[in-house]
Amino acid sequence: MSSRNIAQGLARSCLKTSAARSWPRPRALPRPFSSPHSSSSYHSAASAPSPLAPSAFGHRPFARTFHTTHVARHFGIDRPEPGTGIKVHFRDHKGNLIKTVEANEGDDLLSIAHEYDIDLEGACEASMACSTCHVILDPEVYDQLPEPEDDENDMLDMAFGLTDTSRLGCQVRVTKAFDGMNVTLPAATRNMFVDGKKPARH
Ligand code: FES
Repeated sequence: MSSRNIAQGLARSCLKTSAARSWPRPRALPRPFSSPHSSSSYHSAASAPSPLAPSAFGHRPFARTFHTTHVARHFGIDRPEPGTGIKVHFRDHKGNLIKTVEANEGDDLLSIAHEYDIDLEGACEASMACSTCHVILDPEVYDQLPEPEDDENDMLDMAFGLTDTSRLGCQVRVTKAFDGMNVTLPAATRNMFVDGKKPARH
């Protein structure tokens, strides 16, 4: 067979394939609602309602709706006007002041630290799957907080340098009663992520 004949043959088979894929495709008949064994159960193509046709009420009965869930905000807090917020003193493990910052009521310590570029990791981004946001609190602040839940206690058990007033920073929300609180960062953290991942602000 010459190369010209081969080319013509290929062109013919392509044409056949594209014809077989012509659009719109024939639509399948809707399934009958009565017994498929009864002769009256089969509809003609002309009388069968299309599953995509709008109903008498103007909506498509078989159309699926699209849902979205609320987008969680991670580390996306707003800074209060200077002089109006709750003061938080971040300290290193020796008690030296790293930075004093201001936060709004309800902000969590991890988000506050990230907002002000304080090196508190938060590898799991507040999903209680790590202990890298471990912080040590003043006893009087610790006593005012609700008891940690089991998940938090499980993660705290893995924290480096655990103390009686240790908490996960992502689970502690500040209130006006905590104004002037100290938050001490431990000397080290245990990051269970194999790549030592640290989350970026987003
Ligand atoms: Fe992982 Fe707080 S960031 S538990």
